[in-house]
Amino acid sequence: MFSKIMKWAAIAGLGLLLLLLLSFGIFSFLFHQHTNRQYAVQVRDIPIPDDSATIAAGRHLYEIKGCGECHGANLGGKMFVNDPPIGRFSGPNLTRGKGGLPVSFDNTAWLKAMRHGLNAENKPLLLMPSQEFTLMDDHDMAAIIAFCKAQPPVNVPTPPVQVGALGKILSVAGKIPMFPAELIDHSRQQPKQVVKAATVDYGRYLSASCQGCHRPTLTGGDNPVPGGVPVANITATGNVGKWSKEEFITALRTGKTPEGKQLQVGDMPWNMTAQYTDDELTALYLYLRSL
Ligand code: HEC
Ligand code: HEC
Repeated sequence: MFSKIMKWAAIAGLGLLLLLLLSFGIFSFLFHQHTNRQYAVQVRDIPIPDDSATIAAGRHLYEIKGCGECHGANLGGKMFVNDPPIGRFSGPNLTRGKGGLPVSFDNTAWLKAMRHGLNAENKPLLLMPSQEFTLMDDHDMAAIIAFCKAQPPVNVPTPPVQVGALGKILSVAGKIPMFPAELIDHSRQQPKQVVKAATVDYGRYLSASCQGCHRPTLTGGDNPVPGGVPVANITATGNVGKWSKEEFITALRTGKTPEGKQLQVGDMPWNMTAQYTDDELTALYLYLRSL
């Protein structure tokens, strides 16, 4: 009797193991289908000036768009996810130094990465938030590329991206934005230059950098990072609806909210929003209050 139970338990255990292996095999297969998809895109070339005013505007954008969080403050690259089940992800070295971008990485390659989320072989870049950057106007795009190209070389090799089992499952299930190219309208015609002033319209434009976490509706919800704290509703129906403009600016520069909460940089990246100008934060405030 006992040995019979043992036998059935062993068979059941083995069956479960096979099922797990099979479903993991299916997720791996689907993952590689996503990563190996090749896109036919028409990259619209725009002039990239190299004057000092453009480069200064690009430096500000590099800071407020959080590029440094993944590519390092000196553009030499940085590991930003190191969690074996999810994977190991480093933003590559974006300079011309050893281990950086190849000489063949021209303006078209820059625009293909930034606006289409694709690498030189027209295959998807992983986790690079191009679905947000594709919304930038020509002026801002040119400025950020001009700034990056003007930086001195850093000689650091980029460790290859490694995706863990859980990372593959979550990306195939659409729970992490692993394949920006799939979220992009590749025929989008970006405006030459939006009006930059403390207005609702400019706030809407800037809010592209908030939508990855706060959702396109900005009403928040589950954290896109597995295990992260819930993301707040930042429309007029959330706390922001009760804050004055000054309180909003203080919260986004210091992480201290009027309710007395200290936001953690690891949850809400206020080190990034601290770099915004008064006009930019006012525009965001006006836009969020209009929702
Ligand atoms: C959330 C992290 C993250 C942020 C923020 C980010 N990147 Fe990236 N970026 C990556 C990763 C990861 C890759 C490499 C993906 C791959 O190899 O599949 C990448 C790739 C690139 C590439 C292509 C390099 C190549 O060899 O093809 C460029 C160019 C780039 N990023 C520029 C930028 C700029 C400029 C910004 C800010 C506007 C930025 N990135 C913000 C993570 C990020
Ligand atoms: C990387 C994800 C991420 C990004 C990007 C992000 N946020 Fe947040 N934000 C969060 C999380 C998570 C919380 C909740 C933190 C907590 O509850 O401690 C939060 C909280 C806030 C709060 C406080 C809300 C409250 O009720 O206390 C404000 C205001 C806010 N974010 C504004 C913004 C704005 C504006 C942007 C874009 C410029 C932005 N966030 C971009 C993740 C993000």
